[in-house]
Amino acid sequence: VTSTTTIAILGGTGPQGQGLALRFAKAGVRVALGSRDSERAVLVATELNEKLSAYPGASQIVGTGNLDAVAAAEKVVMLAVPYAGHDETLGSIKSALKGKILVDLVVPLQPGNPRAVAMPDEGSATEAAQGLLGPEIKVVGALHNVSAHVLNHLEQTINCDILACGDDPVATDEVVDLVKCLGVAAYNCGPATNARCIEALTAIVIRLNISKKVPFTHAGIRIWAPDTAPA
Ligand SMILES: NC(=O)c1ccc[n+]([C@@H]2O[C@H](COP(=O)([O-])OP(=O)(O)OC[C@H]3O[C@@H](n4cnc5c(N)ncnc54)[C@H](OP(=O)(O)O)[C@@H]3O)[C@@H](O)[C@H]2O)c1
Repeated sequence: VTSTTTIAILGGTGPQGQGLALRFAKAGVRVALGSRDSERAVLVATELNEKLSAYPGASQIVGTGNLDAVAAAEKVVMLAVPYAGHDETLGSIKSALKGKILVDLVVPLQPGNPRAVAMPDEGSATEAAQGLLGPEIKVVGALHNVSAHVLNHLEQTINCDILACGDDPVATDEVVDLVKCLGVAAYNCGPATNARCIEALTAIVIRLNISKKVPFTHAGIRIWAPDTAPA
């Protein structure tokens, strides 16, 4: 990450996109926050920049239409729309994505039931994106398991690791390196087929978070090495 790195976050007006925009901007990454409605994007970006004024060194978030956000991104474009808008959004930006990396963080949850997934025929949203975009555009699945609530509370440490996967190992490593600027551990978890596991884990985290049987909410997934695990 350099001070000139600009990433795009599409669907950036939602809780997940806003949280990611805040975290990346706080880390000094410039963010083009995309929306289907550029005026909404500008309003949200203004609010987020106000929150960031407490953090010296934070970059600016610029609100714009989704397509202009893709154009502004140096390399990395994050897709943070609901699964219902996944394929349509990708179709609308496909030609602008050439030479860039699409980071897919969409979780295909069952409509009306966030405790379970409804995976597409391709196996996962990440694989569906790769199929739709074709081999020239590199797709990396990542950032599925981190809660919007935590991301938006900048005073909190991000309480999870980031699991990333994709069929291009170099692109996946680039995304892993980028997200480490958020102060998290991040891992290249192999090919895009592993997105079936990573995306699906989110439904388990959501199930626990909304369960009254456990004493927590907004939990995350973490990889514990044997010598660091709690007794
Ligand atoms: N929320 C979480 O804690 C969380 C955690 C991990 C992963 N995720 C994943 O991150 C993604 C975004 O989550 P979210 O909670 O921020 O979602 P959201 O609020 O439902 O949607 C995010 C944004 O997507 C745009 N959008 C809505 N419907 C759309 C459609 N049919 N087509 C295109 N764009 C549409 C909207 O922006 P505009 O109207 O401004 O275009 C909306 O503000 C989801 O795929 C979710 O599975 C969320």
